Amino acid sequence: MNNRAYLIVGGTGGIGRAMIKQLVDNTASDNDNKKTDNGEKQDIHVFATYHRNIPDFEADNLHWISMNICDEQSIQQAAKVIQQQTPHIDWIINCAGLLHTATQQPEKALRQVDTEFFLQNMQVNALASLLIAKHFRPLLAKSARSNDKPAVFATISARVGSISDNQLGGWYSYRMSKAALNMGMKNLSIEWNRSLKDVCVVVMQPGTVNTQLSAPFQGNVAEGQLFSPAYSAECLLEVLNRMTAAQSGSFVDWAGESIPW
Ligand SMILES: NC(=O)c1ccc[n+]([C@@H]2O[C@H](COP(=O)([O-])OP(=O)(O)OC[C@H]3O[C@@H](n4cnc5c(N)ncnc54)[C@H](OP(=O)(O)O)[C@@H]3O)[C@@H](O)[C@H]2O)c1
Repeated sequence: MNNRAYLIVGGTGGIGRAMIKQLVDNTASDNDNKKTDNGEKQDIHVFATYHRNIPDFEADNLHWISMNICDEQSIQQAAKVIQQQTPHIDWIINCAGLLHTATQQPEKALRQVDTEFFLQNMQVNALASLLIAKHFRPLLAKSARSNDKPAVFATISARVGSISDNQLGGWYSYRMSKAALNMGMKNLSIEWNRSLKDVCVVVMQPGTVNTQLSAPFQGNVAEGQLFSPAYSAECLLEVLNRMTAAQSGSFVDWAGESIPW
């Protein structure tokens, strides 16, 4: 029996929820009969974290765990709980993120920069992935993997985190936190290339996706360019499926195209 385990962080968000649906729908209906390429039976489990919003769907092979990515103890605790249920995780995808809150919108100009909102962006968008990597490393280390079929540590970043692609300015906190995330994940890919072989560390741009995060900013999106969460999730999972360990440290979009740092 070939066991595969996925972890989706931010499982009640627009993209995270669609990722889980995709993974569960592809596997839950005939989980017992699922076969790998070489005909081996696959037993697939999806672990998913939620924060404030309570999950609104279930499946036999879906396991929900509460986790606040701004609280290192909560991350550590979630890793412990998952360790009691699976010896390894093969793919971790962090789909949690922050662009605006009930009281704060992304900055249009310098005068709107606010320390608390800036630090909140840094904590959710940049630091969290590092802490997740720190506490879930032992579970990734136990995954069966190779260069061609690596374990995956992916985070949804954003094209606006690209420094060289910045044409419009604005959104200081979000842009800076995504740029910091990108640097953190590049660093991690270098460290793990030495000490945790065959793990592909990736940051991804999901497209402009119809979720609560993008809702206030969809006005200027060209026709046909606003993706459904399901379409974005399907594309991102396909891209990850094609990744090799040699591509660790990549910043790619939903179509697998490289984005300049
Ligand atoms: N939508 C787009 O067009 C777009 C474009 C580029 C990049 N992205 C990136 O894609 C990712 C997913 O975005 P989305 O559109 O799916 O947004 P979303 O629907 O707002 O989902 C964001 C998720 O992050 C979770 N989260 C926020 N703070 C958290 C915390 N402290 N602890 C745990 N979870 C936390 C939220 O959970 P709670 O609400 O329960 O706290 C929610 O599940 C984000 O990183 C975003 O920056 C999105």
